[in-house]
Amino acid sequence: MYKVVLLPGDGIGPEIIAETVKILKAVEKQFDLEFCFEEGLAGGASIDIYGAPLTQETLTLCRNSDAILFGAVGGPKWDGLSKELRPEQAILGLRRSLGLYANLRPMYLFNALIDASPLKKEIIGDNLDFLIIRELTGGLYFGQPKGIEKTQNKIRAFDTMEYTYEEIERVTRLAFETARRRKGCLTSVDKANVLETSRLWRSVVCDIAADYPNVKLNHMYVDNCSMQLILNPGQFDVILTENTFGDILSDEASVLTGSIGMLPSASLGGSKPYLYEPIHGSAPDIAGKGKANPIACILSAAMMLKYSFGVKEAAAVITNAVQKALYNGFRTADIAIGAKEVVTTSQMGDIIEKYI
Ligand code: IPM
Ligand code: MG
Repeated sequence: MYKVVLLPGDGIGPEIIAETVKILKAVEKQFDLEFCFEEGLAGGASIDIYGAPLTQETLTLCRNSDAILFGAVGGPKWDGLSKELRPEQAILGLRRSLGLYANLRPMYLFNALIDASPLKKEIIGDNLDFLIIRELTGGLYFGQPKGIEKTQNKIRAFDTMEYTYEEIERVTRLAFETARRRKGCLTSVDKANVLETSRLWRSVVCDIAADYPNVKLNHMYVDNCSMQLILNPGQFDVILTENTFGDILSDEASVLTGSIGMLPSASLGGSKPYLYEPIHGSAPDIAGKGKANPIACILSAAMMLKYSFGVKEAAAVITNAVQKALYNGFRTADIAIGAKEVVTTSQMGDIIEKYI
């Protein structure tokens, strides 16, 4: 039996998690699997009750689990809070405390959604399928010192971009291992023409490359990469990059697949539990309206089955069910271009469940 902690969070988080649980229960019946779901509070939902975005209790619940399924956090209600109290601290705290240093964001375009992509068909091609691996516990997000200083006539704010050899090495090894099992191409993205951290990044990647002679490695500057994603996204297999660059590039890349509402992610570390979350946010503007796309969260659960529980067949069943729902013309509002039928969040969950 696998203990799965659910952290629905804020905004559309609870709606998409509810649909995902539906799907996992359907999968449970078909495979020899049993899940025990435990729910915890995170983000604004936790602030409202405990005054903190991530409590020790939630952290302990997560530490004692086999995997964590995270919805989304944040919203205008909590925007005015000081930085330690912001809902985003929940996800940042979990990543850091659980040592989840590698974030896998697969960019996969379902054929049925080709019209929902903002790019022309000739550019997007027939089978867009690449993976962004984002370093998740270092760089600007966590580097110290950071702060804001006010003196009589000056205000100065600062963040520190910092990486150690070891931090770069572990995520790089994971990226080479992953590339080896895919098409064997790795693009390391940096800004080595300007940043010291990027120069170290590039030299570590080159060191590790010696252990993977069968993986084709190239280096690309981040500004060029943001352009190449639009010009010729088909050139990529695995992209490896640091935390902030990965945050930005993955939002950009996500819409190539139709909508950010389609994109799952897995955050892996040196030891379990791992964490799974859609890459989109809490979308407060559509929360509670049945408009959210649950597919990113559902596909995150598929990644959980693969990476935490090693049941690839069950993961494939979920992906196939999503594919069928899309192929048969069912769409949530975000991917509704050319739709036969626009469905609500829970209708989409029901349809995918039926195809399971
Ligand atoms: C993401 C999000 C988070 C990040 C926020 C919510 C802190 O944008 O997962 O990409 O910046 O990492
Ligand atoms: Mg982001």
